Amino acid sequence: MADSMKQDPALELLNEALPKLQQAFAHLPSAENSSDPTATDAMRSVLAQLTERLADNYPYFHPLYAGQMLKPPHPIARAAYAMAMWINPNNHALDGGRASSRLEVEAVREIAAMFGWAEYLGHLTSGGTFANLEALWIAGKLAPGKKIIASEHAHYTHNRISAVLGLPFESIAADTRGRIDLAALEAALQSGEIGTVIVTLGTTSTGALDPLDKILDLRERYGFRIHVDAAYGGYFKLVSNLAPDTVRAFARIHEADSIVVDPHKHGLQPYGCGCILFRDPSVGGFYKHDSPYTYFTSNELHLGEISLECSRAGAAATALWATQKLLPLTPDGQFANGLACGRMAALRVYERLKQDTRLLTGPEPELDILVWTVKARTLEESSRLATAVFDLAAEQDLHLALAQVPIGFFGAGVWPGAPSGSRVNCLRSVLMKPEHLNWVDAIWSRLSQAAARAI
Ligand SMILES: Cc1ncc(COP(=O)(O)O)c(C=O)c1O
Repeated sequence: MADSMKQDPALELLNEALPKLQQAFAHLPSAENSSDPTATDAMRSVLAQLTERLADNYPYFHPLYAGQMLKPPHPIARAAYAMAMWINPNNHALDGGRASSRLEVEAVREIAAMFGWAEYLGHLTSGGTFANLEALWIAGKLAPGKKIIASEHAHYTHNRISAVLGLPFESIAADTRGRIDLAALEAALQSGEIGTVIVTLGTTSTGALDPLDKILDLRERYGFRIHVDAAYGGYFKLVSNLAPDTVRAFARIHEADSIVVDPHKHGLQPYGCGCILFRDPSVGGFYKHDSPYTYFTSNELHLGEISLECSRAGAAATALWATQKLLPLTPDGQFANGLACGRMAALRVYERLKQDTRLLTGPEPELDILVWTVKARTLEESSRLATAVFDLAAEQDLHLALAQVPIGFFGAGVWPGAPSGSRVNCLRSVLMKPEHLNWVDAIWSRLSQAAARAI
C-alpha cells in the first residue's frame, strides 16, 4: 500500500513545474513574510497530526478498495490542482481567474464534443448535485409548475432538488434490469402534467442505463424536456465494450436537452468537479444578472454570468484541462481504455458470482457496478448475510459497499411473500479503477472466503 503512494509522480512533477510558475511573477517586490521563524516547525507538527488523522480512512486509492464510487485523481490532476493553489484562482469572473476561466472553457468544450455538441452552454460546478440543480432549475423556468419525473433508481437528490426548486416530483417504477419502466413512464406522460423526464445513464446503485433511445421516441408523441443524468456513466460514451442496449442508449445522447457528467467520478479529478451542459445556448438568458463587484475587466463572458454558483475553484478547471491534455476524450483512446478495463473486471467477477450457488445476482452489469446478495429463504436473512459478508471481506482488506436495491432487480418470486416494492440489502462493488482488471483473482478469493465464513 505504502508503495502505491510512494510511486506517485505528482510531487516530483510539481517540484519541477512550480519554480517556473513562480518565475513568471519574479519581477514583483518580495512579499515573503519571514517574521515567524516557528512557522515551518508549527506546520510540520500539524502535518504530523494530520497524517495520523488521515490514516483513519479506507484505502480508496488501492484496488482492494472496491466499494463506493471513489476513484483516485490522476497524478497530473493532483499536480495541476496543487500548482493552481499557489495562485488560487476563482472562476466566477475573469478578474479572479483569468487563465483558469479560459482553461475551463476549453475543457468543457471537449466534454461537450464527447457528447456530439459543438454549440451548447456549459460550465463546471462543485459536483453532480449542483449540476443537476441547474438543469432542473432551467427545466422549471421553461415549464413552470410541471412535474419532474425519474425512475426509482435515479439519484436520490433529484427529489430533494425538485423540492428546493418548488417543482412537483414523481418517481416511476423500474423494470427488472433497473431501467425506468417504459409502460409506467408512458402512463405518467398521458396525464399531460410532465414537464421533464430525468434519464439516468448509469444509475448509482446498479449502473443501469434508462433506454434514452425509446424515451426520445416518446418525446415525439408527448413533448417534454429530457435531462440526462450521466454524472457517473457519461464517460462510457467513449467505450466500445458495451452491450448493444447500452450503446443504443448512449448513441442519441446528443438529442437530450441537458446533460450532467461528473469529472470527479470517472474523469480522474479531485472532488469539486461536476459539469452541466445545455443543448440550447439561449437558456443562458435565464442566468442573466449583474454583479456590482466583479465583472469589470472584460466584456468577454465571465463564467459567473452563466452559473448559479458564485465562487468556483479555478484549480478544478486547471486539473481537468491538464488531465484532458494528457488523456484526450477520444473514443477507445487511452482514457477510454481505463474505463473499458473496469467494465471487463466487473464482467469477470459477475461470471464468478453467477456460478456461485451461495450468491444471487441480477442482470449482467451494464457498466462497472456489480450488485449481488446472498441466497436465503427470506428477505431479512439475505439482507443479514449480505452485511456479514461485507464485514468479513473488510477483515481481509477487501472493501465493498452495501446498497438497498428493489427486489424486482433479482426477478420475480425470489423471496416468496415479500411485498413488491421491498428492498433487499445487497453487496455492491464499483470496479472503476483500470487496475481492478488485474485484481479480479485477488478480489474473488477474498470475497469467496468471506462468503464461506458468513454463510
Ligand atoms: C447518477 C448520479 N447523479 C448524481 C449524483 C450526485 O453527484 P455528487 O455526489 O457529485 O453531488 C451521483 C453521485 O453518485 C450519481 O451517481
